[in-house]
Amino acid sequence: MSRLCVIGSGYVGLVTGACLADLGHGVRCVDIDEAKVALLKEGRVPFYEPGLEEVLRRNQRAHRLDFTVSYPEGMAEAEFIFVAVNTPAGMAGEADMTYIRQVAEGIAGCLRKDAIIVNKSTVPIGTGDLVAQIIHRHNDKVPFGVVSNPEFLREGRAVADFMEPDRIVLGATDKAAAQEVATLYSSFKCPIIITDLRTAEMIKYASNAFLATRISFMNEIAAICEKVGADVKEVARSMGLDRRIGSSYLEAGLGYGGSCFPKDVQALAHMAAIHGCHPQLLRAVMDINQDQKRIVVQRLRQVFGSLEGRVVGLLGLSFKPDTDDLRSAPSLEIIHLLQSEGARVKAYDPAAMEAARRILSGVELCPDAYATARDSDALVVVTEWNEFKQLDRKYIWQLMRHPVVVDGRNIYEAQEMVELGFIYFGVGRGHVTAPASLVEMGIDTSREQ
Ligand SMILES: NC(=O)c1ccc[n+]([C@@H]2O[C@H](COP(=O)([O-])OP(=O)(O)OC[C@H]3O[C@@H](n4cnc5c(N)ncnc54)[C@H](O)[C@@H]3O)[C@@H](O)[C@H]2O)c1
Repeated sequence: MSRLCVIGSGYVGLVTGACLADLGHGVRCVDIDEAKVALLKEGRVPFYEPGLEEVLRRNQRAHRLDFTVSYPEGMAEAEFIFVAVNTPAGMAGEADMTYIRQVAEGIAGCLRKDAIIVNKSTVPIGTGDLVAQIIHRHNDKVPFGVVSNPEFLREGRAVADFMEPDRIVLGATDKAAAQEVATLYSSFKCPIIITDLRTAEMIKYASNAFLATRISFMNEIAAICEKVGADVKEVARSMGLDRRIGSSYLEAGLGYGGSCFPKDVQALAHMAAIHGCHPQLLRAVMDINQDQKRIVVQRLRQVFGSLEGRVVGLLGLSFKPDTDDLRSAPSLEIIHLLQSEGARVKAYDPAAMEAARRILSGVELCPDAYATARDSDALVVVTEWNEFKQLDRKYIWQLMRHPVVVDGRNIYEAQEMVELGFIYFGVGRGHVTAPASLVEMGIDTSREQ
């Protein structure tokens, strides 16, 4: 059993701390957010992450996991200090290093001899060296190691992803330090890659940028499918069966969001530009992603002309299913676009209502999907939660003022929706032709009040 400290108790830090405790290590987590630490001490997870609370409580009961706001207390005798603080987008698209710098300064005075700092945050290439420099500036007496150990977990499946990773990446100048970190993961069956610091840092950015590229690529194919009368869903399914391609991250839709892909692609493009490269592909990926969110307004304008006074119901607010995370969620921009066109927005999300209440204004938050559909002129599927796939669509049709559905995640079968009487728009479903205007649709104007 090793003594570990994890700095930052957000999605990554808390999962890291709880799971490493579950592997039998003694873990103290440090966070500057007093309210969060108070909740965690009571065994409550301050965000929605399936299965995490169980792991947290199990390890608190076993006295392997504790929380504090104090660096000296959290780091007392710690052999490994994991860093998992946020690295949000800065003003110019760069990764904002404020919190990483604060951590480096905060831990400098509390390090025990030969402690190893393990960075899990997604950080610009060269950050491992920067952290070492900052610590040296404050403390040149105690020898320590720095290892980059990027995290690849996905929100919504974070515990399983942490416990059964595809690979562990460890980057260090001192390979012995990386080997020591590897011992913490010795029960895992996956490959452990030991490399240099900068390569490890780049592996994380390259991985996220590649996944985002797949999404934007499929969105470009979807746009072409629509024009030429093909079905992108079938295209993606068949492409995915090719083992050289694989099936993940091929879903066309309203684009990627969340706390990672948008800021990481942007930060990589920024780094490239700063170093004199011309990141054309990354820029196209971002450009396509930006356009995807406008599809909603385009389709609704196509139907209604002006959106002034129209009521639009959104199904889903979180950036993807099984999380309540609204950071850079496509829903936020879609709401903004709809409101700026004069539409009234109603919304429902199975997990993100509390988070939505904190940050959204002028949106009617509904208790369920049916209440969202009731008297709406249009319904937009923004997040592909399973519960939306099971909805009684005949009933939805009856509830709506106009049966217009923009299925931004292609969760419904286009033909079936048309047969049910919906004016249905998917993304890249060119095999089913949507009418071009309200009149052409023969919309029952008696429903107009
Ligand atoms: N969320 C993900 O799915 C995911 C996946 C892989 C990697 N990452 C990366 O991991 C890092 C953390 O992401 P997250 O989603 O967990 O962020 P988060 O915002 O959920 O959590 C960060 C935590 O760090 C705390 N913190 C900030 N400054 C601190 C300081 N000086 N001392 C102690 N605590 C401090 C905050 O209070 C917060 O609780 C980011 O770099 C992110 O890009 C995130």
